[in-house]
Amino acid sequence: MALKLEIGSKLVAATHNPGKVPEIAALLDGRFEIVTAGQLGLPEPEETESTFVGNALLKARHAADLSGLPAIADDSGLSVSALDGAPGIYSARWAGPGKDFTMAMDKVAERIEATGSEDYSAWFTSALAVAWPNGPAVVVEGRVDGTLAFPGRGTRGFGYDPIFVPEGHDITFGEMEPAAKDAMSHRARAFAKLKAALFD
Ligand code: IMP
Repeated sequence: MALKLEIGSKLVAATHNPGKVPEIAALLDGRFEIVTAGQLGLPEPEETESTFVGNALLKARHAADLSGLPAIADDSGLSVSALDGAPGIYSARWAGPGKDFTMAMDKVAERIEATGSEDYSAWFTSALAVAWPNGPAVVVEGRVDGTLAFPGRGTRGFGYDPIFVPEGHDITFGEMEPAAKDAMSHRARAFAKLKAALFD
């Protein structure tokens, strides 16, 4: 089938962050030879879309068309109900160029307080897209719902993990064993959907 990926074939990870490669390779069970857009010298596109799915698709399509190889890209972030879904696709940008997530988490707390809302519900989203050069694409989205807790707790994980308590739990992602987070995260759910779409 046109949309299937051949085991062992090259797959471009549309990222300039080499740290994401082992994660992507592991999540795809080592089925592919992963090369990054950075290794191929591909320029990074501007993320001009207004949704996670749109930006993941844009990045995958850009890398596939330029490299002539199938490409995978992700886009993820935290959405807060009381803030109409912000920071959403701007989650990384709220931390500024210094990637200061203490500042970003403070900003979330201040913005919620300013609304006067008592709704601290939030969710993480991960969109994953695979695109074939000048061809079709598959895009999926995974989500995990939860509640925000301030001040943040825990030193594990990254980004907004210390303030996010997933539904059905009373500890934050920052306090949770990595394996436990990985079993329920938005990213794991998106990868499960992607694998079902590509391999089942
Ligand atoms: P991206 O790499 O451009 O998709 O940016 C995603 C941003 O969303 C990251 O910089 C984090 O701030 C946030 N984010 C996404 N997933 C998670 C997570 O699992 N835990 C904490 N923060 C996350």
